[in-house]
Amino acid sequence: MFSVVQVSDSHVSPRIPRFNANWEAAVAAVNRLSPDLVVHTGDATLDGADSEEDCAFAARGLAAIASPVRVVPGNHDVGDGGSRCQPATQDRLARFERHFGPALWTEDRPGWRLIGLNSQAMGAGDGLDRGVAEAVGEALRSLGDRRLAVFLHKPALIEALEEGEVGYWAVPPAARGPLALLLTHPALRLVASGHLHVARLAAHGPATLAWCPATGFLVGEKLLPDPRGGARQLGLMRHVFRDDEVETEILPIPEAEPIEIDSFVDEVYPPERG
Ligand SMILES: [Fe+2]
Ligand SMILES: [Fe+2]
Repeated sequence: MFSVVQVSDSHVSPRIPRFNANWEAAVAAVNRLSPDLVVHTGDATLDGADSEEDCAFAARGLAAIASPVRVVPGNHDVGDGGSRCQPATQDRLARFERHFGPALWTEDRPGWRLIGLNSQAMGAGDGLDRGVAEAVGEALRSLGDRRLAVFLHKPALIEALEEGEVGYWAVPPAARGPLALLLTHPALRLVASGHLHVARLAAHGPATLAWCPATGFLVGEKLLPDPRGGARQLGLMRHVFRDDEVETEILPIPEAEPIEIDSFVDEVYPPERG
């Protein structure tokens, strides 16, 4: 048995520090739990896609966690495959990796293989998609009899692997090729994502689709009228890995302030930036 604490969407910055205190509260909560591994599922930075300063600041914040840490990139860290203003590019990915380590990773623990994927590369072109497909192929070729857990920023799907356009919500259906190999694999037990700033647990065969809440801020009714069954709350997730299953709990961050971004989103993310 081992435990992984998942944190997500901290959106920290030394330039616009509105969510930084909530990150400090999250670090204190994580360190009290003392897990074997911490995975940050992206949007570690407010705007690391365009700010070296934000990347350096967020990396220092992650270094305050006592457990080993892995990070996967979010749209605010490396851009987005679907964005005109801030597309995911090799340069942005290289900056992420300088500060946070590999965007694609495999972490083996007894009986388990944990895979970190870059959801922002899926559908992005620029050779980025190919990297994801190769990483998934390699992780499955040498899987053996391990069980599988996948961590990525955007949800892999909302309701089904093959579904209509999902817009902002999840990896675009047309870009899910590498994910399909994982999502239909009999060893899969967990797909853990961030991005939506709501908490939800749903079943996908023998696996759990875990939407981790944010540490940074809530998204209210104006910006997110229908949270698709997710709960608007700040928090983190603890995944306890047993022989053949993962037990996932959503935990609060006691000292975090429930900041809702709707009324001031334009100050933090000007609309022309997409
Ligand atoms: Fe986010
Ligand atoms: Fe995001």
